Amino acid sequence: MRSSVLSLDSARNALSATPPLDRAVSSALPTRLRPADLLRLTDEGAEDVLAGRYDHLLPANGIWPTDERWATRLLSDDEVDVWLISWTPGKSTELHDHAGSLGALTVLSGALSEFRWNGTELRRRILTAGDQASFPIGWVHDVMRAPAAASDCLQVARNSTAESVGPLDPTLSVHAYSPPLTAMSYYEVTGHGTLRRSRTVLTDQPEGDM
Ligand SMILES: [Fe+2]
Repeated sequence: MRSSVLSLDSARNALSATPPLDRAVSSALPTRLRPADLLRLTDEGAEDVLAGRYDHLLPANGIWPTDERWATRLLSDDEVDVWLISWTPGKSTELHDHAGSLGALTVLSGALSEFRWNGTELRRRILTAGDQASFPIGWVHDVMRAPAAASDCLQVARNSTAESVGPLDPTLSVHAYSPPLTAMSYYEVTGHGTLRRSRTVLTDQPEGDM
């Protein structure tokens, strides 16, 4: 697990270079890792997946599930979990936060649609292969596999389920959570433009239960 050791070490080494003021400000957070550290970990995880260093964790024969979201934990310790997720069409995460965990992702292949609550409405963006995003505490979003060529077709309906997907063309992303994910809350947008928290669940599954 060379990559796991190097990834965590590199993140921790970066802490020693953090200016004293930043350390003071960030001391209120429940983790020493910063969004930049998580972005770097997901980038390194994606690189390792593409290089075949996690082939032993991938579905047999390279056949990716087409019915349900699939995930495998790439590395884990007390401070961070790093996951590889395969996304399937028409299966959104629902609108959620990550409780007390910071998060980040790097897209390896395909594209993701993210609908993020900006305080007054949901704003959509498309993340394609190579794109990264980080999620501070309080980030509320819904994520799903974007229909093919979504980056060129932003008018595609949010809940489209018409896309078919083969077992060999996955949409993949690497996610990191720190502290490791233990809970998520789910939300509804009310008729008068506010969020209502509908439930909170204990889970260590990335982006919620499959
Ligand atoms: Fe999420």
